[in-house]
Amino acid sequence: MNVLQVSGVCKRFGGLHALSNVTFDMPEGQILGLIGPNGAGKTTLFNVIDGVYPPEQGQVFFRGQDVTGAKPYRLARLGLARTHQIVRPLNDLSVRENVMVGACFGRQGLGLHEAAKTADEVLAFVRLEARAAQLAGSLNVAQKKRLEMARALAARPYLLLLDEVLAGLNPSEITAMVEIIRAIRAQGVSVIIIEHVMHAVMNVSDRLIVLDYGQQIAEGTPQEVSANPRVIEAYLGDPKLAERLLAST
Ligand SMILES: Nc1ncnc2c1ncn2[C@@H]1O[C@H](COP(=O)(O)OP(=O)(O)O)[C@@H](O)[C@H]1O
Ligand SMILES: [Mg+2]
Repeated sequence: MNVLQVSGVCKRFGGLHALSNVTFDMPEGQILGLIGPNGAGKTTLFNVIDGVYPPEQGQVFFRGQDVTGAKPYRLARLGLARTHQIVRPLNDLSVRENVMVGACFGRQGLGLHEAAKTADEVLAFVRLEARAAQLAGSLNVAQKKRLEMARALAARPYLLLLDEVLAGLNPSEITAMVEIIRAIRAQGVSVIIIEHVMHAVMNVSDRLIVLDYGQQIAEGTPQEVSANPRVIEAYLGDPKLAERLLAST
């Protein structure tokens, strides 16, 4: 079964075409990498998939059900969870309480007692259990990213959307996070990962989609995509990214 089908999705902000006719199917159990230069529309695509913005055109099917225009809280109940590019934990709550929020409003809609158990299990999974009682506001960047991941996982999603969870991490933190992403997939959860850390996204993804100015310019295996002239051209505006992309192949 396809966990997700996106069909002809268009999203504009005023005169700006943030997404133009984006179309793809995603089979269950895969890691799909979503790459493209800054402003390409990657985060907007997540916002359309999880119901933050209804698309002007096109449809989104989640596990076979048309969810176009459905609200984020409803998608969370159906089994969709995400992290945010800019992490914003509830700073005045503990790490455990932050993760409990995910469990309470997620697919299982748990009560507080069960949510606390789920939170502790998921915190151990992302190796943040030692921080459970601390205020979320006291965590460093890498720990906040793990917290975001834990909150999303506590919702017990079928599909997890990860928006730049590796940004700002050092190489050993990136390696640890990539291991966690693989372990999530091994549990049967499908994952879409937006990422600029090219070697990591190339390494972890089964398939990649490349967006540029809201258009899907390439799709395929990491090998196919990184050899695609249109992809290299799209990154040439950003020599650093082009260099990283080429170095990762
Ligand atoms: N809420 C919004 N209002 C107006 N423009 C937006 C909004 N969100 C995103 N955009 C614009 O849409 C384009 C795509 O943005 P985004 O999806 O955040 O790109 P990416 O995540 O690929 O860097 C950018 O030009 C951005 O400025
Ligand atoms: Mg973004």
